[in-house]
Amino acid sequence: METHKQLTIGLFGFGVVGEGLYKILKQKPSFNATIKKVCIKNPGKRREAPEELFTTDRDAILNDPSINVVVEVINESGPAYEIVSTALKNGKSVVSASKKMIAEHLPELLELQQRTGESFLYESAACASIPVIRNLEEYYDNDLLHSIKAIVNGSTNFILTKMFEEKLGFREALDLAQKLGFAESDPKLDVEGFDAVNKWSFLLTHAYGIVEKTENLVFSGIQFVQGRDADVAREKHFDIKLVAQAKKLESGKVAAFVLPQFIKQDDHLAFVKNEYNGVVIESGFADKQFFYGKGAGSFPTASAVLSDLSALRYQYKYEYKKLYHHTPHELDG
Ligand SMILES: NC(=O)c1ccc[n+]([C@@H]2O[C@H](COP(=O)([O-])OP(=O)(O)OC[C@H]3O[C@@H](n4cnc5c(N)ncnc54)[C@H](OP(=O)(O)O)[C@@H]3O)[C@@H](O)[C@H]2O)c1
Repeated sequence: METHKQLTIGLFGFGVVGEGLYKILKQKPSFNATIKKVCIKNPGKRREAPEELFTTDRDAILNDPSINVVVEVINESGPAYEIVSTALKNGKSVVSASKKMIAEHLPELLELQQRTGESFLYESAACASIPVIRNLEEYYDNDLLHSIKAIVNGSTNFILTKMFEEKLGFREALDLAQKLGFAESDPKLDVEGFDAVNKWSFLLTHAYGIVEKTENLVFSGIQFVQGRDADVAREKHFDIKLVAQAKKLESGKVAAFVLPQFIKQDDHLAFVKNEYNGVVIESGFADKQFFYGKGAGSFPTASAVLSDLSALRYQYKYEYKKLYHHTPHELDG
């Protein structure tokens, strides 16, 4: 088996995440990974990196045999899938942050991983800096994971926090989230719950072996939450959060949804503010565990990409244990 001692990276995308990764690798030469080429869309943009690094030609990376890792962090789902699938077919390991693309193409991506035997890692795509995928994949036995409840969208959580704590208007809070790089370029993706349900769809695969299209999951965003709702919640010592939840029922099936919920102020998730994400896992004998960290932003997201890169050094792959090694759970309803 090949050992990826030296990682030679072809990077797609030099935006919030891509540039973050570039800067981190520059700060950490000991990591021993080189970005050989960066493919972007608009060649005219000013970038804080040597000009000769950039190309608009995908094949300059995909057909370069000296590049053994592709990092795909672009913001267009269709091209992202083409890049990732070609890279896997060309024998490269792939790290991606593109949750929309992963949610839309999970069955094909599962098949490609099986067929090519290449690693496809995407820890940063859900909850950015929190290692939730690897935890679900490696730590929790099939029978012991009772429920998982999470705030997976930093941007809506930021907006709700600003509406609650600083009484900002919805638009004002959204503008601020976008300015700080926490929001998707298309705000509808965050606000109407699409981003959260995208992440939830593949987290359900790692948690319970469920492979389901997002349109078959119940979800809503925060588009109907109004200042008045915040007032009522505050009066009754509740917060409003956009919560993604999955719970094993007595029937053995799993109920899963993403919905705004009233959360008691002593709930773990009430502690999760601004662009932070949080995950509460209930498992047999362990009771509740709470994971907390930044769910968006340049360095926090790039830090998860970096962790995936370092996992590639020992050929780490997701085994999708709950899907392939157990009888996958069925979705309720
Ligand atoms: N931002 C976050 O906090 C965060 C967190 C987790 C996951 N993600 C995911 O990570 C991905 C990147 O997000 P981002 O915030 O870094 O996006 P971004 O700041 O909008 O940057 C996107 C980059 O992709 C490039 N690009 C777009 N289409 C391309 C194409 N067809 N071929 C080559 N390059 C292309 C753009 O090129 P130009 O520079 O030439 O325009 C730009 O450099 C997205 O899938 C996002 O959902 C982001």
